[in-house]
Amino acid sequence: MIIAIDGPAASGKGTLARKLAAHYRLPHLDTGLLYRGTASAMAAAGKPLDDAQAAATLARALDPATLDEAALRGRPMGEAASVVAAHPQVRAALLDLQRAFAARPGGAVLDGRDIGTVICPDADVKLFVTASAEERALRRTRELVGRGEDADPAAILEDIRRRDERDSGRSAAPLVRAADAVLLDTTALDVERSFEAALAIVEAARRRA
Ligand code: CDP
Repeated sequence: MIIAIDGPAASGKGTLARKLAAHYRLPHLDTGLLYRGTASAMAAAGKPLDDAQAAATLARALDPATLDEAALRGRPMGEAASVVAAHPQVRAALLDLQRAFAARPGGAVLDGRDIGTVICPDADVKLFVTASAEERALRRTRELVGRGEDADPAAILEDIRRRDERDSGRSAAPLVRAADAVLLDTTALDVERSFEAALAIVEAARRRA
């Protein structure tokens, strides 16, 4: 079974993806880390983020097994990731890796922005997870504070709005709900409730299959 989970920044898609993967004992790929890893490699190589060719070359050379999630999850890398992610060459460079992950025997859970639309258009289940920008900013603030980072809630709300705009407005694989994705609005749901709702959606899809 392939479960495709898309949604905007801090919507809870990563947490849901991890919990669903654990529940069904499926491998999980956080595809945002690939774009964050590409942005980080660009910084290390001293390349400007608008150098699409350099970004594609570094994206192709990424080894997902060596990505340092703790270092990549910080706020600046999310912003830089959304800039490199808008280059079609970068998206093309990361396509095979993501499709190969999804094609593992038994299936997989992938979360990102274009999983249900581009990477796995034939996924067994597609979820589009969302929440209000204000609630997502609160969650991201709590997450960063929890990791000991400075977090100004107003600046984070700004970040989220800017990133929503860039991710939804780009021409290469924009963030958009696939026609056959089930919408899950988690604004008023805590982690457990969101998980129960996601599980119900997956189970309904399994019954239909
Ligand atoms: O956790 P959060 O949603 O803040 O970020 P993320 O999922 O790690 O993604 C960081 C950035 O990478 C996003 O703002 C997107 O621009 C980009 N991204 C993408 O374009 N396609 C994906 N499949 C995953 C992430």
